Amino acid sequence: MIKNHNKHHTPYASPVIHQKTGNLVDLQGRRITYLRLAITDRCNLRCRYCRPEDGVPFIPHKEILSFEELERLVAIFCDLGIKKVRVTGGEPFSRRGCMPFLVRLRRIDRVQHLHITTNGVKTSRYLDELAAIGLDGINVSLDTLDHNRFREITRRDYLDSVLQTVHGALARGTPLKINSVVLEDTSDDEIIQLAGLARDFPITLRFIERMPFSGTVRTARLKNGNLSLRLKRIFPEIEECNVDIPTTARIFTMPDFKGNLGIIQGYSRLFCQRCNKVRITPSGMLKTCLYDNGALDLKKLLRDGAGDYEIRKAIINCVQKRFANGHEAERFSSRASEPSMAMIGG
Ligand code: GTP
Ligand code: 5AD
Ligand code: SF4
Repeated sequence: MIKNHNKHHTPYASPVIHQKTGNLVDLQGRRITYLRLAITDRCNLRCRYCRPEDGVPFIPHKEILSFEELERLVAIFCDLGIKKVRVTGGEPFSRRGCMPFLVRLRRIDRVQHLHITTNGVKTSRYLDELAAIGLDGINVSLDTLDHNRFREITRRDYLDSVLQTVHGALARGTPLKINSVVLEDTSDDEIIQLAGLARDFPITLRFIERMPFSGTVRTARLKNGNLSLRLKRIFPEIEECNVDIPTTARIFTMPDFKGNLGIIQGYSRLFCQRCNKVRITPSGMLKTCLYDNGALDLKKLLRDGAGDYEIRKAIINCVQKRFANGHEAERFSSRASEPSMAMIGG
């Protein structure tokens, strides 16, 4: 391993990487422009599709990437063509220093789009600062508008705090999406109620297929049904939009809605051929697919003293060898039980 003491000014010695930008393309020709950073595995909710009641064993703090390490990685990824960064968790605001970290990321010019995904429990207190740094969007997870059901799904009683975040973000004009995981017992009435948010407010309300990331042993094949047929049955007037940019979500309009509806078929994995994203887990593994086991140990590289050049090269090699799709990634990733989404960052 090359030890490099002048980490941020390494000359380009190898003919393999002769230019500084735009190198992250895999063998299927998919260009990577979107980086998701899970900055913590901790969370103040216990959603039953994400982790067991008594939680998953927390990663010790020293095993989590420091903000300085994360910032260095973001700069390296930007050299490689990343344009959009999403900070997620666990719950990102469960980590002390999340807000100052976002401020620092915003100062990196090459981060053209900065977003967060949050459960909204503590987020309302940061909304002024988030608006002040011009955050490009907040995605809030909210699976129901019913207090009892919220408690049943999340094992906590924080629906009002989440709604405060939703309405606070709307009041400040911060672009807002809501993610609702559709569970086996989610009723049509519940879907209609949630969709009401997109009728009344300029938000995108996305219904998400449940994925096998519950932090528990998998008992059966997940039954998500066909979400797009279900939406069409409930809302016969919906119209699907065509989008050019790569996205995991299919978006629909409804007459007289201020916002949009969407679906994310992350279990069916129908969008892999357009996938433009990679993830960094809280403990510093690079994942080139949500369903892989972790493709590159970035923390080890960082802590062994690797220079930027060496890290860039490792990332490029790793991305080139990406699985073609999430089904293939899952097949090649052996696991005793399902990982928790909190360890991945969504
Ligand atoms: P936008 O950038 O606003 O489109 O958000 P996003 O969908 O990329 O991110 P978000 O954190 O809001 O994730 C919403 C849901 O989509 C979560 O359940 C994610 O696990 C799921 N999701 C996001 N990206 C992928 C992906 O690449 N593959 C799969 N299978 N699911 C994904
Ligand atoms: N399946 C689908 N989505 C999930 N999320 C967490 N766990 C799962 C799962 N098992 C969603 C959260 C959040 C996003 C980051 O991931 O609801 O919106
Ligand atoms: Fe990308 Fe994997 Fe998701 Fe497919 S399943 S879109 S390859 S992360």
